Amino acid sequence: MVALTDATSALDIDPRGVNSGVAPVTYGHGERPPRGDYAQARGDYTCEQDWAGYSAADHDLYRRLYERQVAQLKGLACNEFIDAIGQLGSPAQIPRFDALSEKLRRATGWQVVAVPGLIPEEAFFSLLSQRRFPVTGWIRKPEEFDYVVEPDVFHDLFGHVPLLFNPMFADYMQAYGAGGLKASRLESCENLARLYWYTVEFGLMDTPAGLRAYGAGILSSAGELRHSVLSSEPQRLGFDLERIMRTRYKIDSYQSTYFVINSFKQLFDATAPDFEPIYERVADLHELLADERLPTDRVF
Ligand code: PHE
Ligand code: FE
Repeated sequence: MVALTDATSALDIDPRGVNSGVAPVTYGHGERPPRGDYAQARGDYTCEQDWAGYSAADHDLYRRLYERQVAQLKGLACNEFIDAIGQLGSPAQIPRFDALSEKLRRATGWQVVAVPGLIPEEAFFSLLSQRRFPVTGWIRKPEEFDYVVEPDVFHDLFGHVPLLFNPMFADYMQAYGAGGLKASRLESCENLARLYWYTVEFGLMDTPAGLRAYGAGILSSAGELRHSVLSSEPQRLGFDLERIMRTRYKIDSYQSTYFVINSFKQLFDATAPDFEPIYERVADLHELLADERLPTDRVF
């Protein structure tokens, strides 16, 4: 077990976030270092999946998580996600990343690569910009069936990988990675992280059939999927790039605000302009709380 202070000093030595064999300091998490084995990872934080290392109980847990979640998708998940979920293959076993990468490569040029867990922002952005999606190798413990603090293989695969088969979303994710490398230079990662949070993790889409989820944090959550689409508690606001960049978020409860896009094309086009002047503008505006409401908000 590596103490957080060791990880911090290791990162001080190499500010680019290149793996030095110890758990990285990652954004938004507390005292506890991430649980993966960073000593097994390469300089870019990728590692082997070690598929043979999964136990029968691990595969069974994956299957139970998958079956609970897939049963809820109808009427709550967007069609793009439902159309692609079958690409993960049989839920009887945790998928082999190399077989999945083969399918993805043919569909959109993406691959999945194994990582020990959360990785530093720069390493993450760099992988995305290369159309390589980092997927945590380990699976949660049975007692974490309903809730796990850090992303595990189930969240990463079930939540994120299906939409990488969608060409427009696939391009958005790569553009996000490239934009992240730029945001690091401009010291605007926090603003950009909010965009990721409110789109890739917790995004909703307005469709002819009604509101549907496309965010991975929602789609891989047993309770939040219904909550985000159906509950009268949270507010659902029209997508607004600058508004999102100013809005804080909660990492330990259901979201109090979701942002709604019309289509992946709208998302891609709205995020295509140069963010540098936008970061400058946003830096002069005050932050918004996760549950704040502005007169200019478009409410769903
Ligand atoms: N257009 C953004 C920039 O100039 C890059 C980006 C694209 C960021 C898509 C996020 C999502 O920085
Ligand atoms: Fe995620």
